[in-house]
Amino acid sequence: MNREKFGSRLGFILISAGCAIGLGNVYRFPIMTGGYGGAFFVLVYIAFLILLGIPAMTCELAVGRASQRSIASSFEVLEQKGQKWHLMKYLGIGGNYLLMMFYTTISGWMLIYFGKYLTGSIMPLKGDELGALFGATVTNLPLILISTFAVILICFGICSLGLQKGVERITKYMMLALFALMIGLAVYACTLSNAANGLKFYLIPSLENFKNAGVWTVISAAMGQAFFTLSVGIGSIAIFGSYIGKERRLLGETVTIVSLDTLVALMSGLIIFPACFTYNNGVTADAGTVGASFLFTTLSSIFNAMPGGRIVGILFFLFMIFAAFSTVVAVFENIMSFWIELTKLNRRKIAVINIILMMVLSLPCILGFNVLSNVAIGSKGIMDIEDFIISNNLLPLGSLLYVIFCTYNKKGWGWSNFINEANTGEKGPKFPAWVKIYVKYILPVIIIFVWAQGWISLLFK
Ligand code: ALA
Repeated sequence: MNREKFGSRLGFILISAGCAIGLGNVYRFPIMTGGYGGAFFVLVYIAFLILLGIPAMTCELAVGRASQRSIASSFEVLEQKGQKWHLMKYLGIGGNYLLMMFYTTISGWMLIYFGKYLTGSIMPLKGDELGALFGATVTNLPLILISTFAVILICFGICSLGLQKGVERITKYMMLALFALMIGLAVYACTLSNAANGLKFYLIPSLENFKNAGVWTVISAAMGQAFFTLSVGIGSIAIFGSYIGKERRLLGETVTIVSLDTLVALMSGLIIFPACFTYNNGVTADAGTVGASFLFTTLSSIFNAMPGGRIVGILFFLFMIFAAFSTVVAVFENIMSFWIELTKLNRRKIAVINIILMMVLSLPCILGFNVLSNVAIGSKGIMDIEDFIISNNLLPLGSLLYVIFCTYNKKGWGWSNFINEANTGEKGPKFPAWVKIYVKYILPVIIIFVWAQGWISLLFK
């Protein structure tokens, strides 16, 4: 099969980074950092990116590149006779849909707030009024339906144009604009009057904050965040591996993607925490859940109080839209490839079917803020439950399966096949053979242990 390829390496890096970089970096990372004690959370998160994220992402890229398929059939191509690895496709594609079931709704909130800053209607509001506005916005059924459906339509529209014409070209510019915007905002935020205290909370670890937030709660949240931010474990990274050539070794590509992703997350902290401490006396938002209104209330009150705040608000929400759309487009591209490989339908027909399907699937999350607001497990509403299932379960466990597939010779594809694929290419660092013991035996134990702790924290606290 002749697969469409990326037009340039920059295209590959930016679109894979675009899949990784999204609401997870700019919306979820500050919420988690704020809610789980600041700098210690950041440290644990970075440790997980290096210890778990980099090996898992390299495995996923290797499976994609070696099979030249999406998760729909990549395991079929690589598994040995009689093995059941092809069943991974259901976990992967289920994960892609589940992620989008709430991600498109939050992306829709970004569209709405962009509109509010564009028209300036939000500017006179302060403090509690902004909290009330957020509450009124997310419970406004027609508005949320329109904004979520708009996200679904626009992003499937981009995908249906095809890989090079649509996805690569558009995402490339989105990502470059995003980087430029973030650097400007971070420099600005660090000149704010109380920036120093924000930076202290964010960058200097406090054991007291760590303990107060609950050590295992912090650790399991940090692992969930590491997997969420990379979107690794459900085949949405492997698909890009299937679109690249064999010129470069895979570890270098992984490190570039993870570094860009981490840079954006860290930069978003550099924007948000100085601003919170300058205008809002610290991190005061209810930061423990993804549905938290942190960005929309705390940051909006900051924008509304600062000189030139309307422009900053417009830029901020514009760049949030870039970040979110590049992820949605990348995940939709994965869903499209899945359908292309399993059906004979063309891109446009597949897009139409999936637009309708995705609209239906987004309803539980949307209605969770409305007529289904009493559906909850503990303090988690429908959106947070969906997020917990994907971030703390499907992504880490999917990554674990990719790693097992790549390291076990008899039970999976095997270490030598993996290492051959990962190290094929002229440029970039080799995946070191000496880490085999770690990747094969220790990494799975870390994932399982922290995954179990996540459930214990959820059920017994
Ligand atoms: N990796 C995606 C994000 O961070 C899901 O937004």
